[in-house]
Amino acid sequence: MEAKLLEVRLHGIRYQARYIHSFEFRAVNGGELPAFTAGAHIDLHLPNGLIRSYSLANAPVERHRYVVGVNRDAKSRGGSAYVHDALKVGHVLQVSEPRNNFRLFEGAPHTVFIAGGIGVTPIRSMISRLEALGRSWELFYCARDRHSAAYLDELRAMGERVQTNLHFNFDQEPGGQLLDIAALVSRLNENTHVYCCGPLPMLAAFEKATAGLPQERVHVEYFNAKEQPAAEGGFQVELARTKRVIQVARGKTILDALLDAGIDVPYSCMEGVCASCETRVLGGVPDHRDLVLSKEEQAANDRMMVCCSGSKSERLVLDL
Ligand code: FES
Repeated sequence: MEAKLLEVRLHGIRYQARYIHSFEFRAVNGGELPAFTAGAHIDLHLPNGLIRSYSLANAPVERHRYVVGVNRDAKSRGGSAYVHDALKVGHVLQVSEPRNNFRLFEGAPHTVFIAGGIGVTPIRSMISRLEALGRSWELFYCARDRHSAAYLDELRAMGERVQTNLHFNFDQEPGGQLLDIAALVSRLNENTHVYCCGPLPMLAAFEKATAGLPQERVHVEYFNAKEQPAAEGGFQVELARTKRVIQVARGKTILDALLDAGIDVPYSCMEGVCASCETRVLGGVPDHRDLVLSKEEQAANDRMMVCCSGSKSERLVLDL
């Protein structure tokens, strides 16, 4: 089911760090926006036709605004560069309602966050929530240098007690080094929940370090795919609602085939990380390639991300 779109106005842009700005959106009518939980993201429907997902950085208690952090990616395919260069305060655009693939477990006795660069954005919101609940947390924040680290001023402004929870690793500053994630994880208390959001090498190190932990205590969010989308083709997709059958040819993803056939399906990242294209599976066995569903959820084979996942069976039946 496609998420409802909201009309919002860009209310403010704030410099956060080198290449990182935060963008504050408010409802055009000035009213409250749909509630969100810490770790959620929204999709910006950009005037250039692109749809891009960005994590919310502000406190979930704030109902009057959505604040996203955007890193101007040097390899931008038109998303972050457009947001930085073309969006101006006062512009009106559409955004999706918030969705959360990176949920905060609020009952943990202690929470450890590991953030790399712009990956701190959802964690910024989580910290607000844990502070409101009076929960114990620590942040290990990695960036090239302090000028590249977003939200530093805001975190420091949260007071002296919060300062003691912050640990910085500026690996390109004199004497700096990469965070030893394995050593950090090995010191965790057995009830601690641990979260990681950052670039792929950091996430790979985190997944390796936490492989032996109970997975309900381990939380990770990807911005980019780890592997190529399934485009081997050679199977059929049956649309259960219309009984239409679509052939997925070699070199095409299911999403490509659906769009080519004029089927309107929601999508955003096209990399299996945002869940915009999540679709119920009524028959057949998907070849899951996404980074949103847990291993258990993938094994259930009752839903899939059609932008990147393929099929292990000759036919998939989708609830479309
Ligand atoms: S479009 Fe983002 S997961 Fe498919």
